[in-house]
Order: sequence, then structure tokens, then C-alpha cells
Amino acid sequence: MSTYTLDTSTSRANPTPAPMRRLTVPKIQAMKGGEPIVMLTAYTARMAQLLDPHCDLLLVGDSLGQVIYGLPSTIPVTLEMMCAHGAAVARGSWHAVVAIDMPFGSYEASPAQAFENASRVLKETGAAAVKLEGGEAMAETVAFLTRRGIPVIGHVGLTPQAVNALGGYRARGRDDAEAEKILRDARAVAEAGCFALVLEGVMEEIAAEATRTVGCPTIGIGASAQCDGQVLVTEDMLGLFERTPRFVKRFDDLATRVSEAAATYAADVRSRAFPTEDQIYRKPA
Ligand code: KIV
Repeated sequence: MSTYTLDTSTSRANPTPAPMRRLTVPKIQAMKGGEPIVMLTAYTARMAQLLDPHCDLLLVGDSLGQVIYGLPSTIPVTLEMMCAHGAAVARGSWHAVVAIDMPFGSYEASPAQAFENASRVLKETGAAAVKLEGGEAMAETVAFLTRRGIPVIGHVGLTPQAVNALGGYRARGRDDAEAEKILRDARAVAEAGCFALVLEGVMEEIAAEATRTVGCPTIGIGASAQCDGQVLVTEDMLGLFERTPRFVKRFDDLATRVSEAAATYAADVRSRAFPTEDQIYRKPA
């Protein structure tokens, strides 16, 4: 089965064969308490093609700021970046639900600002949902969007866009007051209508309690196996970075494999071992 086939939602010219139906937001919602939800980040069409058959959700995370653009945090990420990468991921996938992060500054001012920008994201990308960070303070916005047909994934606990306020990326909820606040945040956005909730960098007890008490599936990143699903930044999981948070498991060591391949290529070019007969064009004799 090819992973290159485009979904009808992204290309009417390429009708999707019957078995290739895209998952939907209600189907993700219905996975609460069942088989764990598999989510990974994707920022490009090719990576989406490779990940899509294995995932329920593909997240175009604003982590692309660091991973793709070498920025120091997610703060400088723009709506234009999210739309360009979001459209690429939607084009490269046919099975997973594609969700796009709302970047810092694009949704916090008011529910109306959030609607204007989230509707632009869905129109320009073909994705099915957006994700936004924040708990109680964002509940009204989550309700505003969901009542107007924009599916939302919440994100509480360690919220990277709040790095300046939090003072870093340490796991959250070490004391009772902070743990209680995270649980209030989780319940607030869940009750406001988000269809799934990312719990990032929280103590296992908080993840267990949130998962038990909110109605939507929880998706953990550094939040233990107590959640209804898991998400990782794909490049972390593939071992493309030397420094990763403690919660990342490296499922490969691509950094080493890429440097070894580049070193071999460089040596072959310099010694004229590449290209060979197999890679050149010749006029027919
Ligand atoms: O930006 C991102 O990639 C994320 C996830 C890792 C949850 O928000």
C-alpha cells in the first residue's frame, strides 16, 4: 500500500481508495480508555507520509521553531510558518487526524482573535483541528471555537509558550498547589469542549487523576503511561538531537546514521568513487 496517495480532502483529483479513510475527531474522542492513542509531530510532507500509517494523530507542533528553524523557543513561531508546514503535512497524510498548533500571540487576546486565526489555519492547511496551550484562562476560547465547529486539543502542565513566565522547562506539579492548579486547568478546558488534552511534563499522579476525571482522552508527553495516549517530537524519538528531555525515548540514532552517511558521501566525492556507471547518463550508442 502506497503512503503517497492523497486524501480526497486534500485532492479531489485523486479519489481515495476505500480502505484509506481518514480518522475523524469523534473517532479519536471515542478512543478514551481504549487502545492508547498514537500521536507524533510532523512538519513536512515526506515525514507525514512515513509516519501517517502508524499514527492516529499527526501534530504540526510549534516545536518546529526549534526543530526546523533553529529558534531558541516556540515564542517567535508565526501563523505563516504553521500554515505552510500544516498544509504540507495534510498533503502528505491520508489516515491520521492532522492538528496544528496555534502559535504564541495568535489566540490569547480574545476568543474572536482565536477564531479568526484558527479558521485561517484550517482553511489554508486542510487540517481537522488546532491545539492551543493554557487551562482555565483559555476555557472560554476553547468553548468559543468548539461551538463554532473548530475542534480543539488542549495543552496543560508544562506549556512551552509560557517559558518566560514559568522560568524554564522543568516538569510541573511538584507541590500540592501546582498539582491542584494543573488539575483545575485540565478540567476547565475539557469541560469547555476540547476533544483531546495534551498533558506535558507532569507528575504521574497528576496524569492519572486528570485521565480519570476528564471526559476527553489525555495524551501524555513526559506524563507517564497513565494517559490515554502518547506524543513525542518525532526528531527526538528518532535520535536526531544529542540533548533531549528525560522523558524522551530514542527509538533510533539517526544523528549518527546521518553523519556517517554524509561522511561516506564526502569521501566518495573526494575520491571520485561517486558517481559510478550506475548513476550517469550516456547517449545511446
Ligand atoms: O509543539 C509540539 O511539538 C507540542 C508537542 C510535543 C505536544 O506541543
